[in-house]
Amino acid sequence: MMDKDFIRLNSEACIRCGFCIDDCPTCVLEMGEAGPQVREDQCIECGHCVSVCPTEAIDNIRTPRAGQETIDPAKLPSKESAAYFLRTRRSIRGFRPEPVPRETVLELLDLARLAPTGGNTQNVQFHIIDNRGTLKKVTEAAMTWAKRRLNLAPHLASMVAFHQATGKDNVLRDAPCMILTLMDETTAPLFRQNGRFMLTYAELYAPVLGLGSCWAGWAEAAAISGDPGILEVLNLPPGRIVTGAIVVGIPRYRHRRIPARRPLAVSWGD
Ligand SMILES: Cc1cc2nc3c(=O)[nH]c(=O)nc-3n(C[C@H](O)[C@H](O)[C@H](O)COP(=O)(O)O)c2cc1C
Ligand code: SF4
Ligand code: SF4
Repeated sequence: MMDKDFIRLNSEACIRCGFCIDDCPTCVLEMGEAGPQVREDQCIECGHCVSVCPTEAIDNIRTPRAGQETIDPAKLPSKESAAYFLRTRRSIRGFRPEPVPRETVLELLDLARLAPTGGNTQNVQFHIIDNRGTLKKVTEAAMTWAKRRLNLAPHLASMVAFHQATGKDNVLRDAPCMILTLMDETTAPLFRQNGRFMLTYAELYAPVLGLGSCWAGWAEAAAISGDPGILEVLNLPPGRIVTGAIVVGIPRYRHRRIPARRPLAVSWGD
């Protein structure tokens, strides 16, 4: 039986602006006599009906207002500082040898998990490897995988040759910590992207915690391809697949300048 009893409305406070109805991703609400009412029970518990209401007239017991922090616009960054923050993010490939404290990793991921997820599924589990020996095995497994795919990218052969000649870790860059996003193996392709959004949040937030990060593309590609060698090293929980991977650590240096990018490419549909 459909449950329609999760919206609480103070109809005296409701000004019938309809914002809660318009912002509902799954069109759960419709305007009734007394204000918004449940049309269909497809609530994905995003909290928007409550957070968008200008008069605190509506509550949703599945995602209650009591659990929502009020936004203070004065705390938001200016246009300049937000742009500067985004423009100064850089991939870091040189790390100090000391480990990242686990509480710092958790602080990073507790922010990263707030990234948007398709259907508000929040279907991401983080798998963290901070054991030096295991990280070394990940690098070797990714390198073995790459050697069989030298035709994938022109720079791959050169990178493999460099690793063989020097023994340097040009896969994980000797980072003390690797963070992978895991999902249930039955996850639909669209929702597999969710882990990447969280890792992107992590990359943006890392410098605020004194960390640097870089996408671990080779290791990620090997794991996503289902390579048995790297999967054995990663030792995933049962039924889980890898959908993304980054490394983090304390940077050995900082960037002094912002590299230029190609010009903005756009096309407008008619
Ligand atoms: C891959 C992806 C696909 C999404 N598709 C839709 C969509 O088709 N329609 C929609 O209203 N919201 C869509 N969303 C937004 C999510 O519903 C939203 O991120 C989630 O409910 C959490 O809300 P928030 O982004 O305000 O934090 C999508 C988000 C992602 C990441
Ligand atoms: S919590 Fe989100 S999905 Fe559920 S009714 Fe409110 S706006 Fe719609
Ligand atoms: S957003 Fe608030 S005030 Fe506006 S219609 Fe919904 S419950 Fe009423």
